[in-house]
Amino acid sequence: MSAHSIRTLQEVSGDRLPRLQANHLSVRYRDVWALEDVTVSVRPGKLTGIIGPNGAGKSTMMKAMLGLVPGDGSVSWGDDSLLAQRNRLAYLPQRAQIDWSYPATAWDVVMMGRVQKTGWFKRFSANSRAKAKEALGRVEMEEFANRPIGRLSGGQQQRVFLARALAQEADVLFLDEPFTGVDKRTEAILFNIMHELADEGKIVLVVHHDLGAAIQNFDDLILLNKNLIASGARKRVLRDEPMQRAYGGFVNFLPEVA
Ligand SMILES: Nc1ncnc2c1ncn2[C@@H]1O[C@H](COP(=O)(O)OP(=O)(O)OP(=O)(O)O)[C@@H](O)[C@H]1O
Ligand SMILES: [Mg+2]
Repeated sequence: MSAHSIRTLQEVSGDRLPRLQANHLSVRYRDVWALEDVTVSVRPGKLTGIIGPNGAGKSTMMKAMLGLVPGDGSVSWGDDSLLAQRNRLAYLPQRAQIDWSYPATAWDVVMMGRVQKTGWFKRFSANSRAKAKEALGRVEMEEFANRPIGRLSGGQQQRVFLARALAQEADVLFLDEPFTGVDKRTEAILFNIMHELADEGKIVLVVHHDLGAAIQNFDDLILLNKNLIASGARKRVLRDEPMQRAYGGFVNFLPEVA
């Protein structure tokens, strides 16, 4: 057993993995503030959604936490910065940002998740292959392993990218709108896996912009509109006042959803 897995087991059996803490995150793209002074804490073992209208800064917040856009603020996980622990982190970017014409098969994409464990230019171990196979099986995509990703449906593509995150065996997962273009069956498969990951005590943070019934799958929510409007347990966030503040007159969700 590796030192890493020993530590993980101890943390899970003790007080679980630590919280993720973002402090005073601000991002400005030239003259536009996309995110202003957002301080938020994400609980391990819970499925957490980031919601807010288009352009609210949801993707920007994820990218800021990953150090992919310049900005102010800090993000810690346990006693260290998140980025110092990037080998334990998996990120699924929003669909539009992935080059779907890239000549890789579903299998290649999932194996990319093993690169951090194996190292570039090294041969993948039997263990890595087994993990990739298991990950593809978990998203029910084994039979498509040899299909180029450009020739999969939108929902199948999303499943392959979630499989890559699974193969990585990350403890912190950032998923930006993983449900875009997926049908109800795929949505259920993806939510199931996310719940399993959360139940293992991991940090699972998901950008989600649909206010329909599926929002009940989230335990915690972060409601953004450039600023942080509300965060915490779902029922606390999905109240009239914060939702009106974030969405203006355009919010039209059913209160019983909360
Ligand atoms: N690279 C960029 N350069 C300039 N402005 C940007 C850039 N990326 C995002 N923005 C702007 O920053 C704001 C926040 O964008 P962001 O993509 O984070 O929103 P979002 O909440 O993820 O929206 P969506 O629901 O449409 O995905 C928007 O006003 C957007 O136009
Ligand atoms: Mg976005």
